[in-house]
Amino acid sequence: MDRTEPTGQAAPAQQSGTEIHNDTLRRLLAIESSCDESAAAVIDERLNVLASIVASQHELHERFGGVVPEIASRAHLRCLLPVIDEALRESGTELDDLAAIAVATQPGLVGSLLVGLTAAKALALVLDKPLIAVDHIHAHIYACRMAAGRDVFPCVGLVVSGGHTNLYECRGATDIRLLGSTVDDAAGEAFDKVAQLLGLSYPGGPAIERAAAGGDPRAVAFPRPFLNDPRLCFSFSGLKTAVRYAVQGVPGQDKPVPPLTPARVADLAASFQEAVVDVLVEKTRQAVRQTGLHRVCVGGGVAANRRFRERLAETAEREGFELIVAPPHLCTDNAAMGAIAWELFHQGRFADLDVDVTPGLVRA
Ligand code: KG4
Ligand code: ZN
Repeated sequence: MDRTEPTGQAAPAQQSGTEIHNDTLRRLLAIESSCDESAAAVIDERLNVLASIVASQHELHERFGGVVPEIASRAHLRCLLPVIDEALRESGTELDDLAAIAVATQPGLVGSLLVGLTAAKALALVLDKPLIAVDHIHAHIYACRMAAGRDVFPCVGLVVSGGHTNLYECRGATDIRLLGSTVDDAAGEAFDKVAQLLGLSYPGGPAIERAAAGGDPRAVAFPRPFLNDPRLCFSFSGLKTAVRYAVQGVPGQDKPVPPLTPARVADLAASFQEAVVDVLVEKTRQAVRQTGLHRVCVGGGVAANRRFRERLAETAEREGFELIVAPPHLCTDNAAMGAIAWELFHQGRFADLDVDVTPGLVRA
């Protein structure tokens, strides 16, 4: 179980660099279980994160090279209540003190989402507190609002995770329109599958990033789908296949492939990473131009990648847009970004107790 760094995000508290928490501020409990992290956080109404606990299931999925949905839901069943208890204990919060219970209800793995939602419903019912349904992808963008400590809307939002690669026009925290997404695999999924092909560990993103550090990004010219296409789409499955061919050879061709030495792995990792980053950065630049917006917020697990962050920063500087990338501990799945529930709370947008999960991407 990890504690993600508590982040005091309210403007006056942040200006002094110290977290100021006023005990009279209302608190909510946010629950996140959309994929393979069981997470809970307690956040006050000025967005101070009083506790943020994440129990990751990486070891359980490692040998499969990706998340196995059934294993993920069973692990949530075991981990979620202890994680919630820990978040309440660490923040010194009694259940009765809570103003609301928030939970990610979409998108994600159906069984995983259901565990979080059922826990949240039970708490809301027993405590007679309002229930708030959070969109996990919107929460990934809201992580940038948390990090900035001030309003970041309107902006272009980019969420790059294991399940999603989506560009949004964000008029407000909860007023978000999908501009485009991947037509096949998500970028994070490609990182995970390519890591498996290269014999690297799971999750693949950090492993590829480490291997790429010693490699030549120009060693292999991998495809960059949609790079010069005005549509704001992504595609990563062909890139994944291109890496497979570079490792195993093209089926039906006798051409020998270089052995998978550590130097070759480093070159393939660096070349693959560069291809993904090229496309993500270029599509973001196009989205800025097409929307006329001047700010970009980037979240999701892949946004933890240093090369990606570096290239985004260079492009922001050159193109003259403001860039906010969530800090790494708020990029990968966590419940602190469930602070977006305060926006819904203030709009009076509460969920009924018969609310259901929505596993697929919600387009508007
Ligand atoms: O947002 P996230 O924690 O979960 C989902 O909602 O999917 O994203 C997980 C994904 C995984 O595919 C993982 O390989 C990728 O984010 N990831 C990275 C890095 N850290 C995590 N990808 C590239 N570079 C990284 N440093
Ligand atoms: Zn996520």
